[in-house]
Amino acid sequence: MLSNTAVADGGKRKSLHGHWSSKMAFILAVTGSAVGLGNVWKFPYVAGENGGGAFVLVYLACVILIGLPVMMSEILLGRRGRRNPVATMALLGEEEGSSRQWRWLGVLGVVAGILILSYYSVIAGWTLYYIVQSAGGAFQNATAADVGAVFDNFVGSWQAVLLCHTLFMALTVFVVARGVERGLEQAVRFMVPALLTLMVVLLGYAITSGSFAEGLAFMFTPDFSKLTWDSVLAAMGQAFFTLSIGMGAIMAYGAYLPEETSITGASGAVVTADTSIAILAGLVIFPLVFANGLNPGEGPGLVFQTLPLALGQMPAGAFFSTLFFVLLSFAAWTSALGLMEPAVAWLVEHHERTRAQAAVIIGGLIWFLGIGSVLSFNALSDFTFLNGTIFDNVDFLTSNVMLPLGGLIIAVFAGWIMCRNSSADELGGAGSLYKLWRVLTRYVAPVGILFVLLKAVGLLPDLS
Ligand code: TRP
Repeated sequence: MLSNTAVADGGKRKSLHGHWSSKMAFILAVTGSAVGLGNVWKFPYVAGENGGGAFVLVYLACVILIGLPVMMSEILLGRRGRRNPVATMALLGEEEGSSRQWRWLGVLGVVAGILILSYYSVIAGWTLYYIVQSAGGAFQNATAADVGAVFDNFVGSWQAVLLCHTLFMALTVFVVARGVERGLEQAVRFMVPALLTLMVVLLGYAITSGSFAEGLAFMFTPDFSKLTWDSVLAAMGQAFFTLSIGMGAIMAYGAYLPEETSITGASGAVVTADTSIAILAGLVIFPLVFANGLNPGEGPGLVFQTLPLALGQMPAGAFFSTLFFVLLSFAAWTSALGLMEPAVAWLVEHHERTRAQAAVIIGGLIWFLGIGSVLSFNALSDFTFLNGTIFDNVDFLTSNVMLPLGGLIIAVFAGWIMCRNSSADELGGAGSLYKLWRVLTRYVAPVGILFVLLKAVGLLPDLS
């Protein structure tokens, strides 16, 4: 007891043991939402489309300079408000002497979650199909052409893609309706380490593929002449997407965080885990792309056309391939729950629906909107406007516009509206780490986001 009091004054050691499990539970929940298709599917294909090296560097800079401080801000706002994002922002806006209108950030998040899940579920449906194909041995000793044919045949059939999208949405609605996310979050405990292990095994294969050096060079040799403001925007959008930030989802998780938990430590752990998995995915995929004469700018099918190749060559390939796509589906599933939660919570709280009703209504709406993305890969693949297909546009609007905009609002609120005492209180005092966070949140993140957004839409002229 005596030593407890003594330590309590000097640091956080006091509750080290008692709170370990809740801190861990929080990290697992946030990691479960962050690690998903964004790491394994989206990162490699967007990096490939944007020329590799320079893009990866900008992405890493965005993760550290913008993503990390915004994630910390989201968690601290959530913990201070201790309500759903809409109510939290209204309350804090009032409390900090501003306005309740900050709640519109919550509304932006609800809409972003619905739109993201509408196409996320379609791609997650692809992973379900790949479980079945893997188990049936379709990739056993297959050539790049075989694997490509499986992909083209599947994605070319809107009926098959729609069926898988429907199945994945049903799985998501089922879990959300029953409110058993906690059970699923426990799955993250083994899923993330297992996914990581399997990726390391695949890395071993990629190293022996004969084109590892080429893959490495593609990912890490920056060629800034290839970098456009559009690809900088894509890198920033990817940072927001992969970390699940900018839409209040992490704010909602933060609402249940114990007072003693270090927000800085937890954010650091999540960002490290998420970034490692994305980089690992790139290190596996690009060597395979070059070893098999494929095109790194292939697009959304990239992962589905490369990984089955490697998995099919491994001993017990059908088993490992099945395991891999099961793990990836799980990762997508835990993310999907997070994407749907803001809308469901909002419907339950503001429109007096039961959780099950809300899940079915929102799930149905998302399923319907998803049909646009289903058809983007087949029947409507030629129907393009602005950024491309319907899928391309929904993706662009959410990742590259809505999430950065949400992040901007969060950073401005945490850095400028909230008084110094409040944020220092949440971040454990005004030490040097706090000062660093404050500079990043007040200046680097908002200015960076605004600059990239305006540059990419051509509202700021080039100097030369
Ligand atoms: N980060 C998730 C992924 O990488 C996708 C995602 C974006 C997300 N925003 C979210 C998941 C909000 C949960 C909540 O796949």
